[in-house]
This record gives sequence, C-alpha cells and structure tokens, in this order.
Amino acid sequence: MDWKNRIYCGELRADQVGQTVLLMGWVDAIRDHGHVVFTHIRDIRGIVQVVFQLENDRTDTKAHQLHEEYVVQISGQVVARQPGTENPNLETGAVEVIAKELTILAGSRTLPFSISEKAMVFGEEVSASPEHVDEELRLQYRYLDLRRPSIQEHFIKRHQISKCVREYLDSENFLELETPVLTKSTPEGARDYLVPSRVHPGEFYALPQSPQLFKQLFMMSGMDRYYQIVRCFRDEDLRPNRQPEFTQLDLEASFIDEEFIYEKLEELTARMFRVGGIELPRPFPRMEFDKAMNRYGSDKPDLRFGMTFEDVSDLVAHTRYTIFNKIVQGGGHVKGFCIKGQADTLSKNVLQNEYAIKIAPSFGAKGMSWMKINNGKLESNIVQFFSDEEQTGLINTFGAKDGDVLILIADSSLSHVNTVLGRLRLDFGNRLGLMATDTFCPLWVTNFPMFEEVDGRLNSMHHPFTMPDHDDFDPQDSQSLLQLKSRAYDLVMNGEELGGGSIRIHRMEVQEKVFQALGLSADEIDAKFGFFIKAMQFGPPPHGGLALGMDRVVAMILQLPSIRDVIAFPKNRSAACPMTQAPSSVDKAQLDELQLTAETIQKQQSGAGKSKTKTNAAAEKITQEQVLHVAKLARLKLAENEVAAYQQDLNAILEYVDVLSELDTENVEPMHHVLKIKNVWRDDINLTKKQPEDILKNAPDRNGNTFRVPKIIEG
Ligand code: AMO
Repeated sequence: MDWKNRIYCGELRADQVGQTVLLMGWVDAIRDHGHVVFTHIRDIRGIVQVVFQLENDRTDTKAHQLHEEYVVQISGQVVARQPGTENPNLETGAVEVIAKELTILAGSRTLPFSISEKAMVFGEEVSASPEHVDEELRLQYRYLDLRRPSIQEHFIKRHQISKCVREYLDSENFLELETPVLTKSTPEGARDYLVPSRVHPGEFYALPQSPQLFKQLFMMSGMDRYYQIVRCFRDEDLRPNRQPEFTQLDLEASFIDEEFIYEKLEELTARMFRVGGIELPRPFPRMEFDKAMNRYGSDKPDLRFGMTFEDVSDLVAHTRYTIFNKIVQGGGHVKGFCIKGQADTLSKNVLQNEYAIKIAPSFGAKGMSWMKINNGKLESNIVQFFSDEEQTGLINTFGAKDGDVLILIADSSLSHVNTVLGRLRLDFGNRLGLMATDTFCPLWVTNFPMFEEVDGRLNSMHHPFTMPDHDDFDPQDSQSLLQLKSRAYDLVMNGEELGGGSIRIHRMEVQEKVFQALGLSADEIDAKFGFFIKAMQFGPPPHGGLALGMDRVVAMILQLPSIRDVIAFPKNRSAACPMTQAPSSVDKAQLDELQLTAETIQKQQSGAGKSKTKTNAAAEKITQEQVLHVAKLARLKLAENEVAAYQQDLNAILEYVDVLSELDTENVEPMHHVLKIKNVWRDDINLTKKQPEDILKNAPDRNGNTFRVPKIIEG
C-alpha cells in the first residue's frame, strides 16, 4: 500500500489544482449519471468530490460498482470546479478530483442507517443526522455511527481537551501516575463492580469507583503532585450524565490548601473550555452549601438565571390563609421565588392545573400557590385570604413588578421546601427557555456538611477521608455531627456537578474519629482500610485534591445533552452494550474455574455454615430497557427521569422480595392461607349439631368435617 504518498481528502484546496493525488477513504455518497459518476470520498479530515468520467457511455466500470461505505484508493488530478458548481457544504468545495485509477479495497453491506452528512449539491437536504436514528441502533453499529464527521469531531475535540490537560498539568509539575484497576472497594457511595479471583476462590477484587486511596498513598509516598486521566466504575442507576464506567481527571497535591486547588483548577478548566471556543468568566464565584440550598434548593445551582428563593414565613405567619398559617405556627416554612415578566406566558390554567395540581406534587410538594402581579396588586385564587399589608409585604420581598409571577411552597420541613422549590425553579427555567445553552456559569460550592443522615445512619457527604473544618467534635453526638462542616468543594457549572474534592485528613486520630462517627467498628475499619490506616502512621503530609468528570466536562464544552455522545463505546440506558451484548452469560467451564457455579457456591456457603438458599430476585434486576418496553406496550412516553424512577421503585420491590426470602422459615408449617382454614357453621340459621352430618352425608369425598367439591358448581 502506497501510504507514504497518501493525501487526506479533507485537505485538498485550490492551491493544489493541477497536482496528481492519491486518496484513501470511504465512499460517502454517489450520484451516477451513467457516463459520469460523482462521488464523495471521506476520511478523518473531511470529504472531497471525486469524478469518474467514463468513455463511450459505459455503465459497467469499476466506478459503477461502487456503493456507500466501500473503501477505495483513488489516484487522480485536482481541478478547480466550474464556477457555480462549488459546494459550500465542503471545505474542499472549490475543487474536485478527476479520477484516473480506482482500487476497491473493501466492500460494504447495505447500511443499517445512512451515514453521509454532506449534500453533494448545494442546497440539497441531507437526511442523515444522528438524532434521526434510534440510539439503540446507533450503539449496536457504533463503529458506523463513529464514521460520521459530526461524531468524529466530538472525539477529536475530546482528544484536544485531554492534551491540553496534560500540557497544563505537566507545566505545573504534576506527574501522570497510574493506579490499579483490580483493587479493593473505595467508598464513593455507589455499588462496586466485582471481579472474581481464580487464584483465591470465593474472593473478589473491586473495580475502583475512583483512585481515591491510591492517590492519597502517592502523597504519602512523597510524589507531591499527581494526576491521572483514569477510568472509574460505579454500579449505580444511570442518567444522561452517568455511566457505569466513566473517566475522571483525578489529581492530588501535598502541602496545599483550598486556594491552591481553586487557582489551578480555574486555570485548567478555563483552558479546557477554550479548546471549545468558550471563554469562562473568572474568577469563579464561590457559594457555601447552605446558601446554595436556601437560595437555589440545590447543591449545584444553575446560575444562568435568577429566581432565587425568599423566606416569607414571618410575613404570612398570621394570614387568614390557613394552610400557610398552620404550617408556620407549627414551625414550618413558606418560601418562594419570583418569575419576572412571565404572567402572560404562564396562564392561570398552566399555573393551577399543570403546576399546582400535577408538577409540584410530582416533586413531592403537598401543594403550590401562585400569584400574578397586575396593576400593582396580587391576583390568584387565594389572594382574598391575604391582608393588604401581607400582599404588599409579598410584593416588596420579591421586588415583584407588574407581569411577574410568584410561586410559593409551604411545608413543615425547610429542606423539603428548598428541594421542591429547587426542582420547580429548574422546571420553569427550562420551560421558559431561561437556560441559554451558550452561557457558562462556573461556581465553587464550599462548606459542605461533613455528614448526612441516610435511613437513620450517618454517611459521609463526600467521602470519609475529607477533613472536617474543625476536629474537636464528639464522634458519638450525632446531632452535632450533622452540624459539622467539611473542607470539601465541588466545581459546578450550569446546574451540573463537574467535579468534587476536598482537603484530606492527614492525622490518624482525626481519621479514626470520623470512622467512629460513621459507626464503623475497629474490625470493619481494619478489613476495609487497614492498609491505608497503616500508611497514615508513617508520616502523611497535609494534602488535598479533586476529580473532574471528564465526560461531563467534554459534553458541556461541546454542548451535548448526554455524556454518551462523548464516550466512544458507551453503555445504553440499562447499562448494557448493544454492540457486544455485554454483559452476557459465560461458559459453565469459566464459572467452574472461578468456583462460581451454584454447586460450588452452595458448597462454600454450607462450608461456612450457611445452609439457607437465597432466591436472588434483586440480581435479576429490572432493566431500563424492560421499563421502556412496558411503557411502549402501555403507550406511555416516559421522560428519562421517570424511567429511572420506575426502575428504582421496581428494583426496590424486588430487593424487598429478596429480604423476605431471608426470613427464617425453617420450622414454619406450610400454609395455603395466611389464616388457618377451618369450617365455621353459621349459627344465624340455627343449625343443630346433627344437621352438618346430614348435609355432608352425600358428599362424594369427605374428610372429617370437610368435603371436596367440583371447581365449578352449577346453580
Ligand atoms: P466524586 O464521586 O464527586 O469524587 O466524582 C468526581 C466526579 O466524577 C464524575 N462522576 C461521574 N461521571 C459519569 N458517570 C458517573 N457515574 C459519575 N460519577 C461521578 C462527576 C463527579 O463530580 N475521589 C473523589 C474525588 C476527590 O475527592 O478527589 C470522587 O470520585 O463529574
């Protein structure tokens, strides 16, 4: 193959007119006019028109055998196009190549979907666009999907962004170091993907949810600035911005504080966005977690639009509107936000019948109140219950003007009010087009709580290696632990968490207190993090770091709706790969080798004294595909978050079934009914003791006082 003389199709320009060139690529499109065949030949750098001019009107030449996506080698001469036939859709549109020699290097079957994105004639419509093809089909033939120039562009940009990361971090003396993939579980809050060990039957590696512990060990090793562009694995419910395997830009540094991270990350993020032609506003503003929750109802506020919350509880504490009155008197809160100038867009019908009755309750609200401002006065279905002072107070608190709309939520729990308002704010923002896709609002969210309560237990809000903002806390006092703040920070943009990190604990006694606060016993600590605790005893330096979700960053820079668009071979919404069909079952021989067949597991379990067999209903998880299938059958259109919610609920039910199967039923008599069945003779119709005998005497199949009857008794 004469690859040394190859010229990229996309690079041909008018200054090459007259040259003979050798092209190699795919047939993107064909127009066969019999004696002349026009083709678009495509390679990674673009497309050029190649013309086959055929003698004597022959229609049986090699050029006539060409079809879409055939792989060809063509030598020919670059010529300028006739004036008026230039194609402004192509960067090479001023020229074309007159083919001299054609070699067909490979054929192609008929395509499952069209790939060509460039019209051969200016003004012609091209139907091929990724959005028009079912995503499942695109993922099944991802290698074809990846041939589209628009999709290739995502990956070229991704490469440039990674390159810019490497260049910057190298200039800042960060070392690119690798950490193991077969390792022990790291506590990032999701489920682990486990890998069975053949050499140690019954034992498992965990794929890393992040390289957290290893990067801290690098700091303890004295490598004081580390980074890695690294694959992480988390078995969690999928969303457009979550994948089971995803890439982090992970970094860590020693002898630093928060300001170091903010400074380096702002510069790095600004450079990454510049690759996409986006200039970020700097310095990035900072906001404490409490303020984010109170003003935006989210720990990742979208700052592209206002509508921040005001607490009007005091104002309406004695109102005649009893719902507000009762909630405030009971210690609850009434809060809301003002939507500027949208009173005409948001009709009473939309506010009442869509938002108050459907949308707000779907976000967990017990109700939603709304008021419009007209001629300096409030208007709504409830304003008659508010005094003049209360109405003026509301208007002034929100700085409301004519044409504005107030949205109010009341609840006994302040955090619930905030969360519901947060979701409503985003919903209105979305509906009203307030989230400009070309505006980028970075933000550092700081001062996170150290712990949060989940199902009555304390969990780390970030992870257990995060430094608390003071260390004289009592690990037994759960109320004061919930007030404790941490030195964690998140990098947020347009309502999306792009990255998170913290300054770490580097003193053993503090780390131990945090583990105690989390309710971990000495044995658990030893089993999970023994190696790490040991390392902490050999002079750990103060250190801290952060990880950026690379897929999220790249998707945001390229303004794409899902991280699947910037991952070459992503999993679909049910964590499967439609191309390779992974995950899939494996040979029994492989399971035998790993000692993972039912027999070997049972043997292991009985060896360990556990004879109970478990119906693993939860393992047969309901996939998002199944939810979508059922929705399709029921002709329901589910939004992505609804699919996830249904899936979660159904899986929770299955998990509960699993819990039920763990009930010890060893000595319980089998029952066909929850209550023991016995015959009862109705005394209201005055049967004597004798009569039952009479009644039953002709029964064909009797057993004491019971008798069998046919399944259907005809009357
Ligand atoms: P955290 O868990 O916040 O922190 O993760 C860091 C960033 O990784 C991205 N991310 C994901 N991206 C795609 N799919 C997922 N399933 C997924 N999960 C997380 C997010 C997130 O902000 N070890 C700590 C970092 C540290 O403390 O230094 C960690 O992993 O963009």
